[in-house]
Amino acid sequence: MKHENKVAIVTGAAQGIGKACAERLFADGAIVVLSDINQEQAEAAAMDLDPSGKRAVAIRCDVGIRTEIKKLVEDVVARFGRLDIMVNNAGITCTTPAIDLTEEELDRVLNVNLKGCYFGTQEAARVMIGQRQGGSIVNMSSAQAELVIPDRVPYGISKAAINQITRIFAIALARQNVRVNAVGPGTILTPLSLGMNKNEAAYRRVLSRTPMGRVGRADEVSGIVSFLASDDASYVTGQTVYADGGRAYLNYTVPVDDELPELKL
Ligand SMILES: NC(=O)c1ccc[n+]([C@@H]2O[C@H](COP(=O)([O-])OP(=O)(O)OC[C@H]3O[C@@H](n4cnc5c(N)ncnc54)[C@H](O)[C@@H]3O)[C@@H](O)[C@H]2O)c1
Repeated sequence: MKHENKVAIVTGAAQGIGKACAERLFADGAIVVLSDINQEQAEAAAMDLDPSGKRAVAIRCDVGIRTEIKKLVEDVVARFGRLDIMVNNAGITCTTPAIDLTEEELDRVLNVNLKGCYFGTQEAARVMIGQRQGGSIVNMSSAQAELVIPDRVPYGISKAAINQITRIFAIALARQNVRVNAVGPGTILTPLSLGMNKNEAAYRRVLSRTPMGRVGRADEVSGIVSFLASDDASYVTGQTVYADGGRAYLNYTVPVDDELPELKL
């Protein structure tokens, strides 16, 4: 298995894309630490993967607090002896028109999405540099790193910054055998996006901008994360791979069927 004997941390792993990443890395052989602010749900997810607690555990961490990220990485190294894969996935959003956004809203989202990714990368890299085999870091970006939704201001800013954080660390660490890449999902069905269930107009808007005619599944993101983290991607660094059903290069919109695909987690 491609991640055998590797130790991985996934932040925001209690549900959604983070949980799918933890599941996929575990299935590919890694020891996985599921980290989240929701410790109860992260513990349940870890238990589902490995009731013995040998290859999957939950450790609480709020990635919006720098000292907690440092402690998470220290705890993982103390417990498992190393860190090979870091997936900086935890992310939040807020919906406020650009003209009304408050400083508090900006700080709240940037703290988690931007600073959480930056310090998660930095702390993981420090450990990986000290290991002979290096390591691999994968950051969770978004189609919104490139495309604009004008009432998702700090989210878009944070995801564009994640692409640049990815490039900066990729180049800074290139000679130390630490690769840094990102995945940029389009619309993926998770608890975060399930709200479309109650808003047909919003769901139609999404599909009109998705050439493949459906939203994505979390496992369609986690497979790319596992690939980028693996030796199969040994010459890939600094990239953001978009999993967006074709949205990035679509000008205008595509037709949407009258009957919509069912949204079910
Ligand atoms: N779902 C999508 O359509 C989509 C699209 C593009 C990018 N993304 C990105 O993928 C990532 C995961 O999204 P999702 O849809 O699975 O979201 P989600 O809301 O379903 O899950 C996010 C998880 O992160 C945890 N979390 C929130 N704040 C945290 C913090 N401060 N510290 C640690 N954990 C925290 C939550 O408790 C939750 O378990 C995010 O970075 C998001 O921006 C999602």
